[in-house]
Amino acid sequence: MIGTDVALAASLLKEGKLVAIPTETVYGLGANALDCKAIASIYTVKNRPTFNPLILHFASWEAAQPYVKEVPEEITRLASKFCPGSISFLLQKTDLVSDIVTAGSSHVVVRVPDHPVTLELLSLLDFPLAAPSANISNTVSPTSAQHVEDGLGDQIEYVLDGGESKIGVESTIVSFQDNHVNILREGGVSREDIQSLGFIVKNSNTEAIQTPGQFKKHYATKKPIYLVESISDYLEKNSDKRCSALLYEKSKVNCIAYLLSTNYDLAEIANNLFATMRRADADDTNLILIEHIKEEGIGRAVADRLRRASISLNA
Ligand code: TXA
Ligand code: MG
Repeated sequence: MIGTDVALAASLLKEGKLVAIPTETVYGLGANALDCKAIASIYTVKNRPTFNPLILHFASWEAAQPYVKEVPEEITRLASKFCPGSISFLLQKTDLVSDIVTAGSSHVVVRVPDHPVTLELLSLLDFPLAAPSANISNTVSPTSAQHVEDGLGDQIEYVLDGGESKIGVESTIVSFQDNHVNILREGGVSREDIQSLGFIVKNSNTEAIQTPGQFKKHYATKKPIYLVESISDYLEKNSDKRCSALLYEKSKVNCIAYLLSTNYDLAEIANNLFATMRRADADDTNLILIEHIKEEGIGRAVADRLRRASISLNA
């Protein structure tokens, strides 16, 4: 059931039930992070491999402190700048965090979401919420209550409706190591945002810690998405194929077209990406075309999601 009753959501969570929660990035599938049974049901409902750990959500950065230790001063600085916001921090966990949350790792990822409804909900609880994105594993993340209901509605009691997610891609996950900020997953807070504070930023894709969000196949639609150099060229060479196209700006293409933005606005593109992938997936064409995006700012997070969702063609 979809609804806006924060008190009801709080009481269900206190009973150990799952509740989908709105955040500014994507909707999360929330459970009491201190209740191992509730956590176990997240893995079951999402069909998520148990080796893929969960992010903990807090009402404030201060509220997260009992759950993490040896927090580098640089992370504290990032948190004071970006929390609440679309950034998550990989830190050493304390004994308050169960191994089932972290899939056995000594590190936990924590974040303070920037959404008034979920911040209010968290303030009613005396435990953090573990919440992965509220979709079946490896499908497109939900950016509205209806998306959650479409995917998981028959398995969860309540979807707390907080409107459409205003960022639309997941949080950036960072750690701090050897004097630099490591980006483990590109997301709502961009590399440039972090660099502007004077940090050296690296991408950890090739390094030891692998977050499973770095799995190659992710965000899958039912029909294939082709990442192409030029949609027009592809259509010209493949006039027999029935295609939909996702566009970054207004332009003419000879197939069904969905505008992610009218004028190549990267924030707008990120915001519309997942919802538009769902719409194109539901129409009656056979494949979805999209061009490579400018890799700057939040465009980097979009590029990352597209690489994982698509088949790359040099067409
Ligand atoms: O924006 C977001 O971060 C959303 C909203 C709901 O907060 N959540 C989200 O969760 O995207 P999820 O589970 O779909 O993605 C979290 C990523 C996964 O790739 C997971 O492997 C990684 O974070 N992760 C979580 N805890 C970790 C840990 N202890 N060590 C390494 N990676 C971790
Ligand atoms: Mg996810």
